[in-house]
Amino acid sequence: MGKILDGKAFANQKAEKLKEKVKNLKSEGIQPYFCVINIGDNPASKLYVKTKKRRSESVGIIQKIYQLPENEKEEDVLALIDELNADKKVYGVMVQLPVPEHINANHLMERIDPKKDVDGLTPANMGRLWQGNHFVEPATADGIIALLDYYHIDLAGKNVVIIGRSNIVGKPVAALALERDATISILHFCTKNLTEYTKLADVIISAAGQANLITADMIKENAVIIDVGINHVNGHLVGDVAFDEVKDKASWITPVPGGIGPITVEFLMEQVIKLTRKANGR
Ligand code: GUN
Repeated sequence: MGKILDGKAFANQKAEKLKEKVKNLKSEGIQPYFCVINIGDNPASKLYVKTKKRRSESVGIIQKIYQLPENEKEEDVLALIDELNADKKVYGVMVQLPVPEHINANHLMERIDPKKDVDGLTPANMGRLWQGNHFVEPATADGIIALLDYYHIDLAGKNVVIIGRSNIVGKPVAALALERDATISILHFCTKNLTEYTKLADVIISAAGQANLITADMIKENAVIIDVGINHVNGHLVGDVAFDEVKDKASWITPVPGGIGPITVEFLMEQVIKLTRKANGR
Protein backbone atom coordinates (compact mmCIF):
# COMPACT_ATOMS: atom_id res chain seq x y z
CA MET A 1 0.00 0.00 0.00
CA GLY A 2 1.19 3.51 -0.85
CA LYS A 3 2.29 5.75 1.95
CA ILE A 4 0.20 8.76 2.80
CA LEU A 5 1.53 12.24 2.11
CA ASP A 6 0.05 13.78 5.23
CA GLY A 7 -0.89 17.30 4.15
CA LYS A 8 -2.59 18.09 7.40
CA ALA A 9 0.45 17.30 9.55
CA PHE A 10 2.72 19.20 7.16
CA ALA A 11 0.33 22.19 7.18
CA ASN A 12 0.27 22.20 11.00
CA GLN A 13 4.07 22.25 11.15
CA LYS A 14 4.12 25.04 8.58
CA ALA A 15 1.64 27.04 10.66
CA GLU A 16 3.98 26.86 13.68
CA LYS A 17 6.83 28.24 11.54
CA LEU A 18 4.59 31.00 10.19
CA LYS A 19 3.59 32.00 13.72
CA GLU A 20 7.27 32.39 14.59
CA LYS A 21 7.89 34.54 11.47
CA VAL A 22 4.89 36.76 12.27
CA LYS A 23 6.05 37.10 15.88
CA ASN A 24 9.47 38.27 14.70
CA LEU A 25 7.92 40.81 12.31
CA LYS A 26 5.61 42.10 15.04
CA SER A 27 8.55 42.51 17.40
CA GLU A 28 9.91 44.96 14.82
CA GLY A 29 6.58 46.80 14.68
CA ILE A 30 5.48 45.23 11.38
CA GLN A 31 1.95 43.75 11.11
CA PRO A 32 1.33 41.41 8.15
CA TYR A 33 -2.01 42.51 6.72
CA PHE A 34 -3.80 41.52 3.53
CA CYS A 35 -7.18 42.03 1.87
CA VAL A 36 -9.45 39.59 0.08
CA ILE A 37 -12.06 40.89 -2.33
CA ASN A 38 -14.97 38.51 -2.80
CA ILE A 39 -17.64 39.42 -5.33
CA GLY A 40 -21.05 37.74 -5.19
CA ASP A 41 -22.50 34.82 -3.30
CA ASN A 42 -20.65 31.74 -4.55
CA PRO A 43 -20.95 29.46 -1.48
CA ALA A 44 -17.58 27.73 -2.07
CA SER A 45 -15.84 31.13 -2.31
CA LYS A 46 -17.50 32.35 0.88
CA LEU A 47 -16.28 29.22 2.67
CA TYR A 48 -12.70 29.61 1.33
CA VAL A 49 -12.62 33.25 2.40
CA LYS A 50 -13.83 32.36 5.91
CA THR A 51 -11.31 29.53 6.23
CA LYS A 52 -8.50 31.86 5.15
CA LYS A 53 -9.57 34.41 7.75
CA ARG A 54 -9.59 31.82 10.54
CA ARG A 55 -6.18 30.48 9.58
CA SER A 56 -4.63 33.94 9.15
CA GLU A 57 -5.83 35.00 12.59
CA SER A 58 -4.39 31.84 14.09
CA VAL A 59 -0.90 32.70 12.79
CA GLY A 60 -1.23 36.41 13.66
CA ILE A 61 -1.90 37.84 10.20
CA ILE A 62 -4.75 40.33 9.74
CA GLN A 63 -7.07 39.57 6.82
CA LYS A 64 -9.74 42.04 5.83
CA ILE A 65 -12.61 40.79 3.68
CA TYR A 66 -14.30 43.10 1.18
CA GLN A 67 -17.56 41.32 0.41
CA LEU A 68 -19.07 42.97 -2.69
CA PRO A 69 -22.50 42.35 -4.22
CA GLU A 70 -22.97 40.10 -7.28
CA ASN A 71 -23.85 43.13 -9.46
CA GLU A 72 -20.81 45.23 -8.47
CA LYS A 73 -19.44 47.13 -11.48
CA GLU A 74 -15.97 46.21 -12.75
CA GLU A 75 -14.85 49.85 -12.53
CA ASP A 76 -15.79 49.95 -8.86
CA VAL A 77 -13.76 46.82 -8.13
CA LEU A 78 -10.82 48.38 -10.00
CA ALA A 79 -11.19 51.52 -7.89
CA LEU A 80 -11.08 49.43 -4.71
CA ILE A 81 -7.93 47.64 -5.94
CA ASP A 82 -6.33 51.07 -6.62
CA GLU A 83 -7.20 52.17 -3.10
CA LEU A 84 -5.67 49.02 -1.55
CA ASN A 85 -2.59 49.28 -3.80
CA ALA A 86 -2.04 52.78 -2.42
CA ASP A 87 -2.59 51.87 1.24
CA LYS A 88 0.82 51.45 2.92
CA LYS A 89 -0.42 49.19 5.70
CA VAL A 90 -1.79 46.66 3.17
CA TYR A 91 0.87 44.15 2.08
CA GLY A 92 -1.34 41.83 0.05
CA VAL A 93 -4.41 42.06 -2.19
CA MET A 94 -6.29 39.17 -3.75
CA VAL A 95 -9.54 38.71 -5.61
CA GLN A 96 -11.31 35.46 -4.83
CA LEU A 97 -12.06 33.57 -8.06
CA PRO A 98 -14.33 32.97 -9.87
CA VAL A 99 -15.82 36.45 -10.34
CA PRO A 100 -19.33 37.09 -11.79
CA GLU A 101 -19.59 36.83 -15.58
CA HIS A 102 -19.92 40.57 -16.24
CA ILE A 103 -16.47 41.12 -14.73
CA ASN A 104 -13.25 40.26 -16.58
CA ALA A 105 -10.94 38.59 -14.03
CA ASN A 106 -7.88 39.43 -16.18
CA HIS A 107 -8.62 43.15 -15.87
CA LEU A 108 -8.63 42.79 -12.08
CA MET A 109 -5.42 40.73 -12.05
CA GLU A 110 -3.68 43.32 -14.22
CA ARG A 111 -4.62 46.06 -11.77
CA ILE A 112 -3.18 44.47 -8.60
CA ASP A 113 0.25 45.84 -7.69
CA PRO A 114 2.63 42.90 -8.36
CA LYS A 115 4.38 43.72 -5.06
CA LYS A 116 1.07 43.01 -3.26
CA ASP A 117 0.02 40.06 -5.41
CA VAL A 118 -0.35 37.33 -2.74
CA ASP A 119 -1.88 34.95 -5.28
CA GLY A 120 0.97 35.34 -7.80
CA LEU A 121 -1.61 35.75 -10.56
CA THR A 122 -0.70 39.15 -12.01
CA PRO A 123 0.84 38.98 -15.51
CA ALA A 124 4.16 40.27 -14.11
CA ASN A 125 4.38 37.55 -11.47
CA MET A 126 3.20 34.77 -13.80
CA GLY A 127 5.92 35.92 -16.23
CA ARG A 128 8.52 35.91 -13.45
CA LEU A 129 7.44 32.39 -12.51
CA TRP A 130 8.22 31.09 -16.00
CA GLN A 131 11.48 33.06 -16.06
CA GLY A 132 12.58 31.37 -12.84
CA ASN A 133 12.89 34.81 -11.26
CA HIS A 134 9.96 34.92 -8.83
CA PHE A 135 9.39 36.35 -5.36
CA VAL A 136 5.82 35.08 -4.91
CA GLU A 137 4.14 31.88 -6.14
CA PRO A 138 0.52 30.69 -6.38
CA ALA A 139 -0.06 29.04 -3.01
CA THR A 140 -1.26 25.58 -4.09
CA ALA A 141 1.62 25.10 -6.51
CA ASP A 142 4.18 26.30 -3.95
CA GLY A 143 2.63 24.01 -1.31
CA ILE A 144 2.72 20.93 -3.58
CA ILE A 145 6.43 21.39 -4.30
CA ALA A 146 7.12 22.00 -0.59
CA LEU A 147 5.21 18.82 0.35
CA LEU A 148 7.30 16.78 -2.13
CA ASP A 149 10.47 18.35 -0.67
CA TYR A 150 9.31 17.52 2.85
CA TYR A 151 9.03 13.84 1.90
CA HIS A 152 12.33 13.96 -0.07
CA ILE A 153 10.64 13.20 -3.38
CA ASP A 154 13.00 14.58 -6.00
CA LEU A 155 11.57 15.74 -9.33
CA ALA A 156 14.79 15.95 -11.36
CA GLY A 157 14.52 13.79 -14.47
CA LYS A 158 11.04 12.54 -13.50
CA ASN A 159 8.03 12.43 -15.78
CA VAL A 160 5.49 14.73 -14.11
CA VAL A 161 1.99 14.67 -15.56
CA ILE A 162 -0.29 17.53 -14.57
CA ILE A 163 -4.00 17.30 -15.25
CA GLY A 164 -5.68 20.70 -15.52
CA ARG A 165 -4.28 23.90 -17.01
CA SER A 166 -5.65 26.57 -14.68
CA ASN A 167 -3.71 29.70 -13.80
CA ILE A 168 -4.16 28.84 -10.13
CA VAL A 169 -2.74 25.29 -10.13
CA GLY A 170 -1.89 23.58 -13.44
CA LYS A 171 0.29 26.25 -15.07
CA PRO A 172 2.21 27.37 -11.96
CA VAL A 173 2.90 23.84 -10.71
CA ALA A 174 4.17 23.01 -14.22
CA ALA A 175 6.56 26.00 -14.06
CA LEU A 176 7.83 24.99 -10.61
CA ALA A 177 8.25 21.30 -11.58
CA LEU A 178 10.15 22.37 -14.70
CA GLU A 179 12.37 24.52 -12.49
CA ARG A 180 13.10 21.31 -10.52
CA ASP A 181 14.24 19.67 -13.78
CA ALA A 182 11.17 17.47 -14.29
CA THR A 183 9.85 16.61 -17.75
CA ILE A 184 6.33 17.96 -17.71
CA SER A 185 3.13 17.16 -19.60
CA ILE A 186 0.01 19.25 -19.06
CA LEU A 187 -3.19 17.38 -19.89
CA HIS A 188 -6.64 18.92 -20.13
CA PHE A 189 -10.16 18.20 -21.27
CA CYS A 190 -9.16 18.12 -24.94
CA THR A 191 -6.39 15.57 -24.36
CA LYS A 192 -7.42 12.53 -26.38
CA ASN A 193 -6.04 9.70 -24.27
CA LEU A 194 -5.08 10.54 -20.68
CA THR A 195 -3.80 7.02 -19.99
CA GLU A 196 -1.17 7.28 -22.72
CA TYR A 197 0.48 9.96 -20.56
CA THR A 198 -0.45 8.89 -17.04
CA LYS A 199 0.98 5.36 -17.57
CA LEU A 200 4.42 6.92 -18.09
CA ALA A 201 4.17 9.31 -15.15
CA ASP A 202 6.46 9.07 -12.13
CA VAL A 203 4.36 11.81 -10.53
CA ILE A 204 0.73 12.71 -11.30
CA ILE A 205 -0.70 16.01 -10.11
CA SER A 206 -4.42 16.07 -10.75
CA ALA A 207 -6.33 19.35 -10.57
CA ALA A 208 -9.18 18.54 -12.92
CA GLY A 209 -12.16 18.69 -10.58
CA GLN A 210 -13.60 15.36 -11.68
CA ALA A 211 -14.27 12.55 -9.21
CA ASN A 212 -12.81 9.12 -10.08
CA LEU A 213 -10.87 10.52 -13.04
CA ILE A 214 -7.69 8.64 -12.11
CA THR A 215 -8.12 4.90 -11.63
CA ALA A 216 -5.57 2.18 -10.80
CA ASP A 217 -5.31 0.93 -14.41
CA MET A 218 -4.15 4.41 -15.51
CA ILE A 219 -1.03 4.62 -13.36
CA LYS A 220 2.26 2.81 -13.26
CA GLU A 221 3.43 0.83 -10.23
CA ASN A 222 4.91 3.10 -7.50
CA ALA A 223 3.80 6.39 -9.02
CA VAL A 224 3.47 9.41 -6.70
CA ILE A 225 -0.09 10.75 -6.73
CA ILE A 226 -0.99 14.32 -5.77
CA ASP A 227 -4.74 14.90 -5.73
CA VAL A 228 -5.77 18.57 -5.87
CA GLY A 229 -9.39 17.82 -6.79
CA ILE A 230 -12.24 19.04 -4.61
CA ASN A 231 -15.49 17.34 -5.58
CA HIS A 232 -18.71 16.82 -3.66
CA VAL A 233 -20.24 13.39 -4.25
CA ASN A 234 -23.31 12.29 -2.26
CA GLY A 235 -22.48 14.78 0.48
CA HIS A 236 -18.84 13.64 0.70
CA LEU A 237 -15.69 15.51 -0.23
CA VAL A 238 -13.59 13.50 -2.69
CA GLY A 239 -10.66 14.23 -4.98
CA ASP A 240 -9.99 13.34 -8.63
CA VAL A 241 -8.38 10.03 -7.71
CA ALA A 242 -10.17 6.73 -6.97
CA PHE A 243 -8.23 6.63 -3.70
CA ASP A 244 -9.14 3.12 -2.48
CA GLU A 245 -7.84 1.34 -5.58
CA VAL A 246 -5.00 3.73 -6.50
CA LYS A 247 -3.42 3.74 -3.02
CA ASP A 248 -2.38 0.08 -3.38
CA LYS A 249 -0.42 0.74 -6.57
CA ALA A 250 1.06 4.16 -5.73
CA SER A 251 4.24 4.66 -3.69
CA TRP A 252 2.93 7.90 -2.17
CA ILE A 253 -0.51 9.47 -2.30
CA THR A 254 -2.34 12.49 -0.85
CA PRO A 255 -5.76 11.84 0.70
CA VAL A 256 -8.81 14.06 0.20
CA PRO A 257 -9.59 15.62 2.62
CA GLY A 258 -6.35 16.12 4.57
CA GLY A 259 -3.98 16.41 1.62
CA ILE A 260 -3.40 19.51 -0.47
CA GLY A 261 -6.36 21.52 0.93
CA PRO A 262 -4.86 22.44 4.32
CA ILE A 263 -1.46 23.13 2.73
CA THR A 264 -2.88 25.69 0.29
CA VAL A 265 -4.14 27.98 3.05
CA GLU A 266 -0.85 27.92 4.98
CA PHE A 267 1.13 28.63 1.82
CA LEU A 268 -1.07 31.61 1.05
CA MET A 269 -0.08 32.92 4.48
CA GLU A 270 3.54 32.25 3.56
CA GLN A 271 3.13 34.54 0.52
CA VAL A 272 1.65 37.29 2.71
CA ILE A 273 4.66 37.07 5.02
CA LYS A 274 7.11 37.03 2.10
CA LEU A 275 5.55 40.17 0.60
CA THR A 276 5.42 41.88 4.00
CA ARG A 277 9.12 41.16 4.56
CA LYS A 278 10.05 42.32 1.06
CA ALA A 279 8.08 45.55 1.39
CA ASN A 280 10.01 46.25 4.60
CA GLY A 281 13.40 45.52 3.06
CA ARG A 282 13.82 42.16 4.84
N1 GUN B 1 -10.54 30.32 -5.86
C1 GUN B 1 -10.18 29.03 -5.60
N2 GUN B 1 -8.86 28.95 -5.37
C2 GUN B 1 -8.36 30.20 -5.48
C3 GUN B 1 -7.05 30.75 -5.37
O1 GUN B 1 -6.05 30.07 -5.11
N3 GUN B 1 -6.95 32.09 -5.55
C4 GUN B 1 -8.03 32.85 -5.84
N4 GUN B 1 -7.83 34.16 -6.01
N5 GUN B 1 -9.25 32.38 -5.97
C5 GUN B 1 -9.42 31.06 -5.79
